[in-house]
Amino acid sequence: MSQAWITLATNDQYARGALTLLNSLHASGTTRKVHCLITNEVSAAVREELENKFDEVTVVDVFNSNDTKFQENLSLIGRPDLGVTFTKLHCWRLTQYTKAVFLDADTMVIQNADELFDRPDFSAAADIGWPDMFNSGVFVFSPSLVIYRALMHLATSTGSFDGGDQGLLNEYFSNWRDLPSAHRLPFIYNMTGGEFYSYAAAYRKYGGQTKIVHFIGAQKPWNSTTTDGSLHKSEHYQQWHSFSEQKFSPARQPKADASSVPQAEDDSDMRRIAWEAGHPDYLGKDSFDNIKKAIDEVLAVPPKK
Ligand code: UDP
Ligand code: GLC
Ligand code: MN
Repeated sequence: MSQAWITLATNDQYARGALTLLNSLHASGTTRKVHCLITNEVSAAVREELENKFDEVTVVDVFNSNDTKFQENLSLIGRPDLGVTFTKLHCWRLTQYTKAVFLDADTMVIQNADELFDRPDFSAAADIGWPDMFNSGVFVFSPSLVIYRALMHLATSTGSFDGGDQGLLNEYFSNWRDLPSAHRLPFIYNMTGGEFYSYAAAYRKYGGQTKIVHFIGAQKPWNSTTTDGSLHKSEHYQQWHSFSEQKFSPARQPKADASSVPQAEDDSDMRRIAWEAGHPDYLGKDSFDNIKKAIDEVLAVPPKK
C-alpha cells in the first residue's frame, strides 16, 4: 500500500512554493512520501534541487486550458495564468500510489495531517467563494488511468467553467456536495483567508486548529512578505518565510509533535489565538511558571528567593 503527497510546479516561482511546502511537510513529521510534478519550464538548477529534496520528481507535459476553446472562462476569476493548472490532472496517472493527497504549491502544512490518507477517494474541502463546490488546492484521491482519461476527455469536450482545474474537477465530481460526510474535508485542511464578516470571529475561535494553510489568489508569499492585512495572512506569511529559509538535511526529521513544528519568530498572535480557543501551551510559554512570572511582573512583586 503506497501513499504519497503530490504537488505541482510548472516554473521556478511555484517550485519555491513546492520546496517550502516540502519543508513544512517534513517538519510535520509525515510518514508519507512527497512527489513533485514539474514541467520543462523549470530551470535545470531548480530541477536539480527538487530532485535532491523530494522523494520523487516526475516531468510531465504542460496542459493548458488556453489550448482548448474555453480560454475565455479564465477571465471570470481574473487569473489568465491559471489555464496551466490543467497540468495538475497528470496526478491521476501516478498509479504507483493507491491513495494520494494533492496539495497546491501555495499550501503549507503547519500540523501533521497524515490522517487525510484515511479519507475516501474523492475528498476535498468546500471553496470559500462558492461552498457548494470544492476547492481543488487540497484533495484526497486514488490515482487511476480511467479517471485520467475521462478528465482529459471532459477537458477537451465540455471544458472548465472557470478555465482552471477547479471548474473541471467540480464538473467531473459534480456529486461531491451530496456524498457521505467523510468526503467533505474540514476547513482546517484547506484554510484560506477571507474577508467575509463571519470570518474574523471564527478564525479567533478555530484558527488554532488549522493544519493546512492555502494562500489562494494572485498574491503569493514568494512574491511578497507583506500582506493585504487580513488576519491569518500576516502570521502565516511569516511562518511560510521561516519554512522557506529552513535547510533540512536529506534525512527525514523524526515524527514531530506539535510543539516542535517551527513557529514564526513572533508567535504571540498564534499563542493568543490558541489560548483564546481553549488550547493553552501548558508546557511552553503559557506554563504556570511563565504565567505567574508575568503576573508578578505586572504587580511588581519582587521575585521570591
Ligand atoms: N501552478 C503552477 N504554475 C502556474 C500556476 C499554477 O505550477 O503558473 C500550480 C501550482 O501547484 C499552484 C496550482 O497550480 O499551486 C494552482 O494555482 P494557484 O495556487 O496559483 O491557484 P489559486 O489557489 O491561487 O487559485
Ligand atoms: C482555485 C484553486 C486552485 C486551482 C485554481 C484553478 O481557486 O485554489 O487549486 O488550481 O483555482 O482552477
Ligand atoms: Mn493554490
